[in-house]
Amino acid sequence: MSKDTITITNNRNGKTYDFNILDASVGPSVVDISTFYKETGMFTYDEGYTSTASCKSEITYIDGGAGKLMYRGYDIAYMAKEKTFLDTAYLLVYGELPTKDELDNFALEMQKRSFVHEGVKKLFDAFPDRAHPMAILSAGVSALSTFYYNHLEVNTPQEYKEMANRIIAKIPTLAAFSYRYSNGLPIIYPDLNKGFTENFLNMLRAYPHEYVELKDIEIKALDTIFTLHADHEQNASTTAVRNLASTMAHPYAAISAGIGALWGRSHGGANESVIRQLEMIGTVDRVDEFIAKAKDKNDPFRLMGFGHRVYKNFDPRATILKEIRNELMGELGISSELVEVANKIEKIALSDEYFVSRGLYPNIDFYSGLILQALKIPKEMFAVIFVIGRTPGWIAQWSELHQQKTIKIARPRQLYVGPTERTPKS
Ligand code: CMC
Repeated sequence: MSKDTITITNNRNGKTYDFNILDASVGPSVVDISTFYKETGMFTYDEGYTSTASCKSEITYIDGGAGKLMYRGYDIAYMAKEKTFLDTAYLLVYGELPTKDELDNFALEMQKRSFVHEGVKKLFDAFPDRAHPMAILSAGVSALSTFYYNHLEVNTPQEYKEMANRIIAKIPTLAAFSYRYSNGLPIIYPDLNKGFTENFLNMLRAYPHEYVELKDIEIKALDTIFTLHADHEQNASTTAVRNLASTMAHPYAAISAGIGALWGRSHGGANESVIRQLEMIGTVDRVDEFIAKAKDKNDPFRLMGFGHRVYKNFDPRATILKEIRNELMGELGISSELVEVANKIEKIALSDEYFVSRGLYPNIDFYSGLILQALKIPKEMFAVIFVIGRTPGWIAQWSELHQQKTIKIARPRQLYVGPTERTPKS
């Protein structure tokens, strides 16, 4: 028996089975159970994949205990402080940080490819007023697969580059159009004199007759939010993208599925819930009442923006955004009852035994919700912002799967607990 195996004994029949242990470059090793069914005649059961690695990946690494997040080996704090979102997107999609020339060319590509086919606008006309921008965006991205059907086959680096750059460049335009259409506002086209993030904020906030003066800190804050959302291992939406990729579906159909998954309030919808909850609490004098509700075992109420499944000591993304929030609010001179409510909750949660003992620190959504609110971005657009940030990560994950020598279709098994064969009534 090798020390690189794990032995499992079936106590029902006394049989033992050895499974190989595979080592990660950093982080937990895994037990290779790909032959488990063949050898034991049984499936394994792990609802929500809490102990299951669904793939091998070189893209993103999280150490929840140490509060560490790395993109292709680069610490998130370095990426957020020293680099831009376009550096991050390039790193994820092409594997290395860009040189100055590569970054300039990438930025130019983003500008050139930022327009969407005029025909896409007809699709927007079909949606009812107030349609949720995430639904419109998901449909819009899916529709792009009809305009770029050729991306169904991506075989060369050039084909990959076109497919990847096109979607990263067009998503902000589609995202801004989704918002403008759902609110009956005139569309603002991409401005080729503006950088990636500034252009998006402009398409969201400008009017044909009204120039928007954006402060550097506003652009920096949103750019950092994009960077911090760019990838996060095998989360629900990334898993959705990979599942579609495994069927050889069109890559934009896979991104559209990722948007659908991200829309859920347990995933990309959390920062919107943070602001809704702060608005519901309303005034500083009601904070204690809601803290008590959050601590009450018999009350399902939870403080939105606190706690994390993986980060149990602190969320490194939240640490970065906290600094940016302070800088932004200071420069914009923002003070409101909502901000006061948030500050009081944050202060209590960071010192109260209930929250401290359970590792319930403010997470990325607590601060990103407050920042996006300060940037005058409507709540229903918060998840859309997440999509813009996450698109390079999804593309990188799609590509990683497609580069495997053999692609196995994602097809989990189940523990069937329904009726056994029934005799039809005659
Ligand atoms: N408020 C009050 N109590 C909480 C909270 C909260 N936000 N989160 C967890 N708890 C308590 C929970 O009641 C439990 O207490 P006890 O041990 O006494 O039974 C303990 O903390 C552990 O909770 P859990 O549900 O086992 O923790 P989890 O790791 O399964 O859940 C979570 C993580 C993020 C779903 C949860 O903390 C939560 O619901 N937070 C609020 C929603 C939120 O902010 N979501 C965004 C997360 S970040 C998303 C991202 O990374 O993109």
